[in-house]
Amino acid sequence: MSQFAMKELSLPAQFLVNTMDASTDPIAQFHAWMADASASEPNDPNAMSVATVTADGQPSVRILLLKGVENGAFQFFTNYESRKAGELVNGKAALCFHWKTLRRQVRVVGPVEKVPAAASDAYFGVRQRGSQIGAHASLQSQPLASRDVLVQAVADVEARYAEQDVPRPENWGGYQVIPSEIEFWLDQPYRLHDRFVFTRAGNGWQMQRLYP
Ligand SMILES: Cc1cc2nc3c(=O)[nH]c(=O)nc-3n(C[C@H](O)[C@H](O)[C@H](O)COP(=O)(O)O)c2cc1C
Repeated sequence: MSQFAMKELSLPAQFLVNTMDASTDPIAQFHAWMADASASEPNDPNAMSVATVTADGQPSVRILLLKGVENGAFQFFTNYESRKAGELVNGKAALCFHWKTLRRQVRVVGPVEKVPAAASDAYFGVRQRGSQIGAHASLQSQPLASRDVLVQAVADVEARYAEQDVPRPENWGGYQVIPSEIEFWLDQPYRLHDRFVFTRAGNGWQMQRLYP
């Protein structure tokens, strides 16, 4: 090894710190990182990429907001007739969080299912009225002829529910990913990052460190 390479690879002490071990609860760890992200990210710390795949194997991905982790399941809300919904019928999804200021990433893989209707009702009920109306007016992922068509649809929904609560549309609600795998990634010098993958094992989790 050249002298230069030796110098380059003198790693700082932090590199040697073992940040997670088999006793780490990945859900608690996720909450801790989300709390850090809430304090550090300029906006939407709960934004995540949600990857889905068609029946013939074509993947697609988009950003959604995580609305909670309930009983260890990662929940988001959307339109049940959207493109993603069509792809989620195969029951599989993957999530990816990237917190730029923290230089951290979390990946989640697992089966996905609709959240109970009562939970969708509860969340829909606390959304802003404008968002509730929007959920009725938007045929998410369908072709839209013009902005005017959407504006007219919003006006129609507003008129329909004037002076009354807006009910949750049947085609709008939550999904939850039940993680079979959660991976934590921490930036380290020289791209020799730390990766810890937790895989479900019985009622608990098994941790494995991965090469960066
Ligand atoms: C920061 C951000 C947050 C978003 N949050 C949501 C969300 O929580 N639910 C949703 O349906 N779409 C959300 N979207 C829009 C989606 O990225 C996407 O355009 C939409 O859900 C349609 O996706 P689809 O055609 O693949 O079904 C968000 C977009 C951004 C950029």
